Order: sequence, then structure tokens, then C-alpha cells
Amino acid sequence: MNLIDLRSDTVTQPTPAMREAMASASTGDDVYGEDPTVDRLERVLAARLGLEAGLFVPSGTMSNLLALMSHCERGDEYITGQLFHAYKYEAGGAAVLGSIQPQPIEMEADGSLNLERVAAAIKPDDFHFARSRLLTLENTMHGKVLPLDYLAEARRFTRQRNLALHLDGARLFNAAVRLGCDPQAITRHFDSVSVCLSKGLGAPVGSVLCGSEALIGKARRLRKMLGGGMRQAGVLAAAGLYALERHVERLADDHEKARLLGDGLRSLGYRVEPVQTNMIYLQVGDRAASLKAFCAERGIRITAAPRLRLVTHLDIQPVHIEPILQAFAEFAEAQHQIAVE
Ligand SMILES: Cc1ncc(COP(=O)(O)O)c(C=O)c1O
Repeated sequence: MNLIDLRSDTVTQPTPAMREAMASASTGDDVYGEDPTVDRLERVLAARLGLEAGLFVPSGTMSNLLALMSHCERGDEYITGQLFHAYKYEAGGAAVLGSIQPQPIEMEADGSLNLERVAAAIKPDDFHFARSRLLTLENTMHGKVLPLDYLAEARRFTRQRNLALHLDGARLFNAAVRLGCDPQAITRHFDSVSVCLSKGLGAPVGSVLCGSEALIGKARRLRKMLGGGMRQAGVLAAAGLYALERHVERLADDHEKARLLGDGLRSLGYRVEPVQTNMIYLQVGDRAASLKAFCAERGIRITAAPRLRLVTHLDIQPVHIEPILQAFAEFAEAQHQIAVE
């Protein structure tokens, strides 16, 4: 059966044209700094984001960790969101490998962190406390786009408070496409930005951390320490370059599919949160496991979460929308029958 996989935008397969670009990539030993394709990817993306330098790494997790470890020393602290990937879903890497203390705070409904709450979390300069050094944001956050004026405010705030500002921009281009802006309208507010190539952009592997020459120099040393120095990685970087050239504008198609799916589910009676980019969140409560099994029987893969996330991407076609809605309609109907029996 042809599976419709809505679990994440990480499940996409490299397209035939992307595979061709990978197969014909020029390569060299990147640990010696000799891979021309990796070099090009790093330069192209850094320039596109208006930052001085880039570093190609195997994953978004490593990219965020390198940012945290490059901004902070042992005994420093980063302020972050309770549900942010760089805090909750990265195996505690900053604490385990960087001796950096996380200070998570609750996020607001729009995915931002309230700057008064951030201010209250900053530690005084006193030897009892860890040194607050860095604030991290995530954009998009659960599919939501942070407003540009909020980013400007966060920049002003971090300057006043002597904090660096890092963006987990795993889905930065989704945010830029949704806002219809140049990505630099977002990235100009940050000291460092991590971008994933293997999410909505559809490459099989890789992220790029961008920042100043000095920060990226530090991160390059740390990448080697963490075992992330790769050799003929140009075959992977070529997929990233291809994605940056061909798969950015098309993110609008993913957003449109998500909007259609969200509207359709809402009209079936599901409680769907407003959809901004390629993620749809809906409340399914304790029916999550049975919904997952029900969908699986119909060739549709979802996770089993009470607040269910469905993600559209390169491998979800417009023709998939109808069978997905059909499955959710049948499930709602079956549940209704069970309730009245
Ligand atoms: C917002 C965000 N940041 C970082 C990551 C980490 O990326 P990776 O899976 O490549 O380590 C993810 C992964 O899903 C993510 O969603």
C-alpha cells in the first residue's frame, strides 16, 4: 500500500533530481577543508541569511548543541522554552556535554517567550548563580511564525541585557515563505541561526549553523570533538544546495495542503488549532491510539498523541487530502456509533 505519512516533514524521500545532484557532486575531504560542495553550501546559506559563515553538520540537534556550546562556557546558562526542541528533545546535550544549565520558561500561545518572564529568569551577577548568557527562540514553533516586531523587540532586549540570541530555525524557510519576506528579515535579529535541510526542504541529511566567523570557528572545533567532522560530505551538501535552489518557494504548497486539511478536519467537527504553515494540531484526547490504528489500516501514518500533529511535506500530494479526510470522517462516525450503542 502507498503510505501517506503525516508524522513529520522529516520523512520525505530525496527526489530523483536531487539524487542526480548528489551523484554528480564534486567532493573532497571536508575535515581537511577540501570539499568544494560543502564549502559552497556553507557560503551560499550564510550569504542568504546575511551572516558571515556557515558550518554543515549532520543534524539539527548537533547544530543547536554547537550553537549553545559556542555561545556558552561551562557554568553558563541558556534561557529557552519549556517545549523548545533545543531544550526538551535533544537528550539534554547542553547539560551533559556542555555543562551548560538550561533555564526553560513557559512559552506563549504564539510560540514566543514573554520577555518580562525572560527578564525575571536572568540571574544577577553573583557567585551563587549560573551566568545567564544566551536566549534561544524557535521559528517556526509548532508550525507558528514569530512576528517580526517581536523578533526586533527580542533583539533590543538581549542587547540591553548582554545576552546572545540564537534561533533554532529548523523551519526558518517555512516562516519566511509564510510571511512573504526575505529570510534576512528574520535572521538579522540573531547572532546565530540553525537551519535544517532535512525537514520541509526535503534533503536526506544535514543542517547548517550560521553566525559570525569567530562563532563558527569555535563551532568547527566543537563539531570535530563531537565526531561530526565528515569527509566526502559533498554528496550530502549537494542535496542541501539542490533543496535551497528548488524547494524553498514550493513550501507554500505544503502550507496550502495543511490549510485545506485543517479546514476539512474542522468541518468534520475536530478541534483544530489555526494553521499557519505545514503543521496541523488537533485535539483527539484519549482516542489517539485508536485513531492511529484506524488510519494505519487505511495506509495513513500518524502518531498517537492527544494533541495530534499532522505535517504536510513534499511527499504529500493534493490527491491525498481527500482520503485523509475520508479516514478521519469514518473514524468520527465510528466513534459516534460506539458512543450511542
Ligand atoms: C524545531 C526543531 N529543531 C531541531 C530539530 C532537530 O533536528 P534533527 O532531527 O536533524 O536532529 C528538530 C527535529 O525535528 C526540530 O523540529
